[in-house]
Amino acid sequence: MNLLIQDYNDKLKVLVTGIAGFIGFHLTKRLLDEGYSVVGFDNINDYYDVQLKLDRLKELGIEEKDNQWISNKSNLKFVKADLLDKEILLELFETQKFDYVVHLAAQAGVRYSLEAPQKYLDSNITGFLNILECCRNYPVKHLVFASSSSVYGLNSKIPFSIEDRTDSPISLYAASKKSNELIAHTYSHLFKIPTTGLRFFTVYGPWGRPDMAMHLFTEAIINKKPITVTDLAMTRFLMPMNKALELVLFALKNGKNGDTFVQKTSAATIKDILTAILEIFKKPNYKVEIIGTRHGEKKYESLLTREEMARANDLGDYFRISKDDRDLNYDLFFLKGNKKISKFSDYNSDNTNQLSVTQIKKILLTLDIFNKIKLK
Ligand SMILES: NC(=O)c1ccc[n+]([C@@H]2O[C@H](COP(=O)([O-])OP(=O)(O)OC[C@H]3O[C@@H](n4cnc5c(N)ncnc54)[C@H](O)[C@@H]3O)[C@@H](O)[C@H]2O)c1
Repeated sequence: MNLLIQDYNDKLKVLVTGIAGFIGFHLTKRLLDEGYSVVGFDNINDYYDVQLKLDRLKELGIEEKDNQWISNKSNLKFVKADLLDKEILLELFETQKFDYVVHLAAQAGVRYSLEAPQKYLDSNITGFLNILECCRNYPVKHLVFASSSSVYGLNSKIPFSIEDRTDSPISLYAASKKSNELIAHTYSHLFKIPTTGLRFFTVYGPWGRPDMAMHLFTEAIINKKPITVTDLAMTRFLMPMNKALELVLFALKNGKNGDTFVQKTSAATIKDILTAILEIFKKPNYKVEIIGTRHGEKKYESLLTREEMARANDLGDYFRISKDDRDLNYDLFFLKGNKKISKFSDYNSDNTNQLSVTQIKKILLTLDIFNKIKLK
């Protein structure tokens, strides 16, 4: 197959998978502004409104005409294909000789993973393996991939092993992201593939995903339906899009083989997010149904475990967790403890700075959904 992608000049070339998605779209704009050339890859699946994905592509200057995807920029190209299509991926890597890969394409969503488990194994695990295999065959300077705050699930307060690990993912989405971190670790160790995982958490900004809580609550009011909430005391980390993009760029430039980066950030309770939305709509007594925590949901998110906090490098805005390079002398690690670890707690959305209702309102008013409605 000939992908007919013309060669670029000497600009650094980045493959962005998931370009039609929320983060991939914003990242592409940013990379082009910074002078990179971008090849975008996406299967434009229908997990949420396909038109939103096509509109994002159009905003980037990419459109389908006569069964061909055309870009109005010489330094931006688009390939519509699936991560499962290894042949296309290999051809793309062979012909394009990417400098960097930012792998964002994935089946997102915690709740949907209960309904469509196969999609998570296909896109998130086999798809990721295909990207790693391409990087193994056609080496790149760095592969940055999206992980998630979901990687840590239950047991977060119980020291049940020598490292007090808390990785008990409680959804298939979480398990697939945790697997990505483990598989990346293995590949970077075995084949010296320079990888950095980024643990993202609720990213907000324009052109956002309609499956996120802030959108769902707002849609409910617009459609005059009750708002469904699981637990008002639930906390979630929040990350503005510009910080997410800074993190990707930082990782591309500074990531070392096998790193995980975590952005320091604030969190909010669901109660305050809800209050902020109801205040914006001036509907303080709007009908809210509290249904309790559903299977696969957790009260708060942990971005770093206590053990990771103890060995993380504090880089100001970020924590860097380097690859665990200890050897396999288990006796040493079982017989000798590390007193330093006891001084740390995990980094979670309950023990970090909480945004006020006023701060949340400011955030909400940056989202498109609030531009669509006429607020009195
Ligand atoms: N947005 C967030 O708040 C957030 C939080 C934590 C982690 N993440 C992770 O960051 C990454 C990007 O998130 P997003 O919000 O932009 O998600 P998104 O769903 O908007 O974008 C993902 C894109 O990947 C594409 N895709 C999915 N499976 C594919 C496949 N098999 N082949 C080709 N393309 C495929 C989809 O069509 C979509 O356009 C994902 O890996 C997600 O899990 C995002």
